[in-house]
Amino acid sequence: CGDRIALTPTMGWNSWNCFGLEVSADKVKRATDALVKSGLADHGWSYINIDDSWQYNRDSKDHPKMRDEKGFIIPNSKFPDMKGLADYVHANGLKMGIYSSPGPWTCGGCVGSYGYEKQDAESYTKWGIDYLKYDWCSYGGVIDGLPENDPFKVPSLAFQGGGDPEKGVKPFKVMGDLLRQQPRDIVYNLCQYGMGDVWKWGDKVNAQSWRTTNDITDTWASVKSIALAQDKATPFAKPGNWNDADMLVVGEVGWGNPHKSRLKPDEQYLHISLWSIFSAPLLIGCDLEKLDDFTLNLLTNDEVIAVNQDALGKQGVCLQTIGELKIYIKELEDGSKAVAFANFGREKVNMSYKDFSKLGISGKQIIRDLWRQKDIAKLNTTNESLPLDIPAHGVAYYKFNGIK
Ligand code: DGJ
Repeated sequence: CGDRIALTPTMGWNSWNCFGLEVSADKVKRATDALVKSGLADHGWSYINIDDSWQYNRDSKDHPKMRDEKGFIIPNSKFPDMKGLADYVHANGLKMGIYSSPGPWTCGGCVGSYGYEKQDAESYTKWGIDYLKYDWCSYGGVIDGLPENDPFKVPSLAFQGGGDPEKGVKPFKVMGDLLRQQPRDIVYNLCQYGMGDVWKWGDKVNAQSWRTTNDITDTWASVKSIALAQDKATPFAKPGNWNDADMLVVGEVGWGNPHKSRLKPDEQYLHISLWSIFSAPLLIGCDLEKLDDFTLNLLTNDEVIAVNQDALGKQGVCLQTIGELKIYIKELEDGSKAVAFANFGREKVNMSYKDFSKLGISGKQIIRDLWRQKDIAKLNTTNESLPLDIPAHGVAYYKFNGIK
């Protein structure tokens, strides 16, 4: 089938977790420069995605009109030239993503696409946009029958919307169909926080990825709850369709209150390992101009990235739980297997592991530590065991390569 896109999970940067509603064209340009200068672009990070608040805010006083007489969005002082910005991103060898809502307003109170979906899809094409994140936000208010004749009275946040799954699918299909009609490949990401089991129908509305859960924050509780919520969606991932576990909360995050990720180093290893084995889109959420060595190292390990980007496109599945240790396996194209031993508990795990048959692993294996990029053991998994020493909230991320 000729027009399948996003055959591996999207890799790039998203403005929300570091710039929030204060995003601007200048900050996006600087993020573009930093993605290249830091070397991240050489490791496959290639999308520069602008999240909420590139459009007019409903409270803005500086211009009364947000669309021209034909319904096309007009430039504003923060983003005066979208095409120029996309050209800048493209000239750096990268791709540019944008954001909207099927409702009249985005969650941040900016103009959404409701009633103007066609004009917006055409604008994205005209500007050279490569990715759209389409965020539910106020659409619930439309379903709930808030003034249909004056949808702009809908509040920007109206999450639920009648609970009718069919009504929840419709607005995403409208935009999905329009995007497919454009003479341009635009990756389509659904952001509706996993409502209505989106993983079961996202591909039918022409989406390439969909958020499975609510928003991530840079806390252990958030990362843990999102990680543990992925299992139900696992079977639905495949090349061109990915479960989006939300942004990577490493580095300097927090708009309005910039701070280093509150995740401890071991928690960050677990976070990145799991997003890698989940085949999740990898979207860096931090300020790229303030990358420290630790964060840069986390994001430039090619062996960890390669598991995420593996062409077979299978999502890692949890095959065994021992107390608070969860063991995820991802089959890879070359026949090897990535294995993440993820310790969600507060105590370290110290054990001799020998349940390999439960993981579908047998015979002689070379075991490689993906973070250290080093073979650590040669084992006959049928009768030998592997010592595991995993810190609290930490991970051992290995690859098992069968040998004769
Ligand atoms: C809710 C989404 O889940 C976030 O990722 C972000 O896009 C905000 N909306 C923007 O308002």
